[in-house]
Amino acid sequence: MGKMENPDGVGKVGNLICGDVIWLYIKVKEDQKTGKRKIVDLKFQTFGCVVAIAVSSIITTLAKGKTLEEALKITKDDVLKMSGKLPLIKVHCSILADDALHESIFDYLFKNKLPIPKELQERHKKIQKHLKIIEERYKEYVNLEKKILEK
Ligand code: FES
Repeated sequence: MGKMENPDGVGKVGNLICGDVIWLYIKVKEDQKTGKRKIVDLKFQTFGCVVAIAVSSIITTLAKGKTLEEALKITKDDVLKMSGKLPLIKVHCSILADDALHESIFDYLFKNKLPIPKELQERHKKIQKHLKIIEERYKEYVNLEKKILEK
């Protein structure tokens, strides 16, 4: 948990239902032998409920050590399975984590001018659209978030 210094990729996602936000930071290293890029470290800052915080932690466990290709296959169901039995009303809180992971990978690929799979591009567009709605809906909260992150 916490902010990562000089992350290779950052994913920011928000929950349309409640406005909670996850920042997920990744460090990526290229394996010299295979040429595959692996997620070697992750950190998160989550402005949300206890379930949002728990699933942020879960996604770091699921994705650490995975290649980017493997990490992109992690689903909401994987996160939900590892969360145990969530009350139905809290299931929506678990959907942010894998979006955050996908966004951080998108950011990494984009910054490094690497090919971005079409599915990931479409998902990115949808997530960004949701973020804009959230930032408009929760302006005060977003300003508070900025102040906290600047510290
Ligand atoms: S209440 Fe917003 S993510 Fe849980």
